[in-house]
Amino acid sequence: MNTLAGKHLVLGLSGGIACYKAAELCRALVKTGATVQVVMTDAAEHFMTAVTMQALSGRVVFTSQWDSREGNNMAHINLSREADAIVVAPASADFMAKLLHGRADELLSLLCLARPRDQVPLIVAPAMNREMWSNPATQRNVAQLKADGIHVLDVGQGEQACGETGDGRMLEAEEILEDLQAFFTPQILLGKAVLVTAGPTYEAIDPVRGITNLSSGKMGFAIARAARQAGADVTLIAGPVSLPTPRGVKRLDVRSARDMHAQVHSQVGQADVFISTAAVADWRPDTQAEQKIKKDGSGKTPKLGFFENPDILASVAQSDRALQGALFCVGFAAESHDLLLHATAKRIRKQVPLLVGNIGPSTFGQDDNALLLVDANGARELPFASKQDLAHDLIADIARRL
Ligand code: CTP
Repeated sequence: MNTLAGKHLVLGLSGGIACYKAAELCRALVKTGATVQVVMTDAAEHFMTAVTMQALSGRVVFTSQWDSREGNNMAHINLSREADAIVVAPASADFMAKLLHGRADELLSLLCLARPRDQVPLIVAPAMNREMWSNPATQRNVAQLKADGIHVLDVGQGEQACGETGDGRMLEAEEILEDLQAFFTPQILLGKAVLVTAGPTYEAIDPVRGITNLSSGKMGFAIARAARQAGADVTLIAGPVSLPTPRGVKRLDVRSARDMHAQVHSQVGQADVFISTAAVADWRPDTQAEQKIKKDGSGKTPKLGFFENPDILASVAQSDRALQGALFCVGFAAESHDLLLHATAKRIRKQVPLLVGNIGPSTFGQDDNALLLVDANGARELPFASKQDLAHDLIADIARRL
C-alpha cells in the first residue's frame, strides 16, 4: 500500500534556499505515483526556475493569479479544488505570516486561503535562518497556524546556508516524503507500542574479525517505518546496518545476539507488538580474543568452537505478557527452500501466532521481497513487491489481529 499513489498534490514554493530540496521532493512525490502541480511565488523564482519544476513534475508551473491559461481565469479556485492536499515547501517566515493573516496578494497564498478546508489539508514545511525561526513572532505564528488547522511540519537542525548552525532549516526531501506518507496513512496502530528487531548480529572472534550474515535490515526498517506511519510508537533495535533511521522511530543499535537479547528484554515490557525481523546469529565463537589473532607462519589455522546464542523470539514468546495475550509476537523465517514447510514448523516451535516466511538468499540486501504469512489457520502469500509496500500490508494484517 503506497498511500501517495494516485494522490494529486499542489506543491507550493515560497522564497528560500531550501527550494532546491523542493525539487528533490517533487521528484520523489512523482516517483510514488502522485501527480504534482507546482505553484511558485515570485521570491521562489529567485531560487529555482519554473522550467526545472515543470520538467520534474511534468506539468506547467503556475506563478501568477493572472494566468490566462485557466478558462475562467480562476487558477486559485481550480487548483485548490482538484487537490488532495496543498504542501508548501519551503514555507518562508514571510509566507507563514501571510497565511496567518489570510492575506492573498499572489497565487500561492490566494489558493491556500481559497481551499475548501474540510477537504483539502494544508501542510507547510518551514525553512528559515535559526534567528528567524526562534523569533517570538514566528513561534507565535506557528502556534496560531496549528490552531487554525494547518499542519506545520518540524524543522531540521544543523548547519544553515547562511553559515550559522541551529534550528530552522527545512527537513530533507525524504523526511518530508515520510511525513506526507504518514499523513495519508490510516492510523490503525494509534496508541500501540511496537518493538521491532532488524538486521544481522555480529559475533566477534577478535577485535577485527567476526561472524555475521547478509541481512541488510531493509525489511525490518520498512516494518518500523510502516508501523510508525500507522500511528504506533515504534522502537527499533538494529544490528550493524547502514540504513537511515525511519522518521519518528526510536532506534537502539546493538552488535551481538546477546546485546540484542538484553536490549529487547529491557524494552519489550512496554510493547503491545513484537516483530522479530532480525537475522540473529545462531552461534557465537566460544572464545573472543582480546587481541588480533596473528598468523605465526607455521600454516596452522585457529580452531573455532561455538556456543549457541539465546533465542530472543522464543524467550519473548514465552514471557507472561505474551502468554496472557498482552503482547502479540510475530516471527520471521529466512529459508532457502521448502518455505511453507519450514515456516509452519518454525511457527509451532517458536510458539508465535504469526510467522512470516521469506526466501533469505534471494531477498537479503534487495529492495523487493515476497512474504508468506503463516498462522494457525494456514498460509497467505503477499506477492513480490517493494519491501516498503509489503511492510504496510503486513502492518495492516497485524492490526486486524490485535
Ligand atoms: N531468532 C531470534 N533469536 C535467535 C534466532 C532467531 O530471535 N537466536 C528469531 C528471528 O528473528 C526470526 C525467527 O527467530 O524471527 C526465526 O529465525 P531463523 O534464523 O529463520 O530461524 P532459527 O530459529 O535460527 O532456525 P534455523 O536457523 O534452523 O532455520
